[in-house]
Amino acid sequence: MVYSANEQRYAEMRYRRCGKSGLLLPAISLGFWHNFSGGDPYERGRETVLCAFDAGITHFDFANNYGPPPGSAEIAFGRIFKNDLLPYRDEIIVASKAGYDMWPGPYGNWGSRKYLMASCEQSLKRLGLEYLDIFYHHRPDPETPLEETMGALADIVRQGKALYAGISNYDAAQTKQAAALLRTFGVPCLIHQTKYSMLHRVPEEGLLDTLGAEGIGCICFSPLAQGLLTGKYLNGTAPEGSRAAKGGFLTPAALTPELVRKLNALNGIAKEGGRTLSALAIQWLLRDSCVTSVLAGASSTAQLRENLAALSQPALSPDELARIEAALTE
Ligand SMILES: NC(=O)c1ccc[n+]([C@@H]2O[C@H](COP(=O)([O-])OP(=O)(O)OC[C@H]3O[C@@H](n4cnc5c(N)ncnc54)[C@H](OP(=O)(O)O)[C@@H]3O)[C@@H](O)[C@H]2O)c1
Repeated sequence: MVYSANEQRYAEMRYRRCGKSGLLLPAISLGFWHNFSGGDPYERGRETVLCAFDAGITHFDFANNYGPPPGSAEIAFGRIFKNDLLPYRDEIIVASKAGYDMWPGPYGNWGSRKYLMASCEQSLKRLGLEYLDIFYHHRPDPETPLEETMGALADIVRQGKALYAGISNYDAAQTKQAAALLRTFGVPCLIHQTKYSMLHRVPEEGLLDTLGAEGIGCICFSPLAQGLLTGKYLNGTAPEGSRAAKGGFLTPAALTPELVRKLNALNGIAKEGGRTLSALAIQWLLRDSCVTSVLAGASSTAQLRENLAALSQPALSPDELARIEAALTE
């Protein structure tokens, strides 16, 4: 059936300015690290993407290696884009990244100009796009001069292959250096993609302050700690089909009694406020004006809708924030 986007798609979503740029991003963005691989059903992925777009999620996040196999998430989205979203290209922000192992040999990993230029071209082909909205360096490379990596990002922007440049997984000091270099190349660092959630608070140790001072936007990945901050693991086991049950970066070993106690305490606070745990986790991140967007994953439209409900609830009160802090630190 021919897709026609919901005419009310911009009514509910909130858009937040990305650092000191002109770009607004949705409070919740959709990530394609899992659930959109060559092995996942195309129709389920399509439904999720279109449900997201219909709800005002304009930002879709990829990396060259998302799959498995690497590249298959971009290919799957390319198909959805071509079949359904082509008329809406100017309403969509597509990001991709390079920095992890992608192809054999010395030029398919880390941060060389050779790798970044080639990977950007490959992503464009897989996605079926003429340009990316954001192109990131995915992780710092200890061996390649930062000038080379940032120079490649700036040239990718100057060549029109991406509209904006971003970095991911850089610490505060690396971020300052990268931002300074990009400025000298006349291409500001738009955005930093960092792992941040109630269970992973490293960005509070300097990175968020740096992003604020530099005027760089912040998009938080794994905001639900890969699903731990949802209702599904509260009894301490990994339900069939869940990310933890499938194994990989999250395994059932993460479900320690201490963590499960913490999750249940957080869930109690959520329930008292009439929220789900996932909504609490999302609202907790959005409490900080430095955070531009919460980059969540979803393996179904039901999950996506539950997460989107976070945006129609009142902000967390000072009392709720204090109780969350106590639950996290006890
Ligand atoms: N820059 C980087 O280095 C980097 C690294 C990692 C991720 N990322 C980006 O960040 C995005 C999000 O990361 P993530 O997938 O780890 O995010 P997440 O939002 O913390 O976890 C998403 C997973 O949690 C589960 N889930 C989500 N909503 C749920 C709900 N309402 N109820 C129950 N379960 C729910 C689903 O897993 P199951 O249903 O499968 O259990 C879903 O796939 C990625 O897709 C990628 O774009 C970037």
